[in-house]
Amino acid sequence: MNKILEELQRISKLLLGSERLSHVESCVNFAVQLARIHGIDEDRVVLAAFAHDIFRDVKPTVLLTMATVYRMRITELEKLNPILLHGKVAAEYIKRRFALHDRDILDAIAYHTSGKDHFSDIGKIVFLSDSLEENRIYDNVDWLREMSKEDLNEALFLTAGNKIQYAIRRGLFILPETVKMWNWLVKLRREDYKWN
Ligand SMILES: [Fe+2]
Ligand SMILES: [Fe+2]
Repeated sequence: MNKILEELQRISKLLLGSERLSHVESCVNFAVQLARIHGIDEDRVVLAAFAHDIFRDVKPTVLLTMATVYRMRITELEKLNPILLHGKVAAEYIKRRFALHDRDILDAIAYHTSGKDHFSDIGKIVFLSDSLEENRIYDNVDWLREMSKEDLNEALFLTAGNKIQYAIRRGLFILPETVKMWNWLVKLRREDYKWN
């Protein structure tokens, strides 16, 4: 695990700008806090949080080439906006480079922007840390941070809702995986006491 982190650190310094590096560092710190509070394996959370944006600053054409070389399925939306591929390409790279087959870690990296249904706790933590780390400033962010320390599912529901509303207000695409996660969370919530 330490060897992987060392190499990721080297790659991050080569590929990421200083703002992005600061985001990743802050994301790892927030993810560690959530892992401790919720009793989730810290090492796996750190690895996923550390790796989530390693290819976020490479050119869109490079992401498309990597996805093609890796024989990944590229959706219509990803063709239109190849930056969307940065999580999936990072997960595929980590899997191949380190022979790492931990599905929860790989999915947490691949789906950190969109989210996904039946997301693992590691996935939930990385998704939330990406949106709620201390450099992020927007309405309600403090409240969402507190919520993420109390209840991962509720925080995921609220943060996903926030992202969806943001996309609608600005006329942006909503990723199909985000809609699937949203519907999954609504279902979970209905089964839970909150809506009974
Ligand atoms: Fe990202
Ligand atoms: Fe990020």
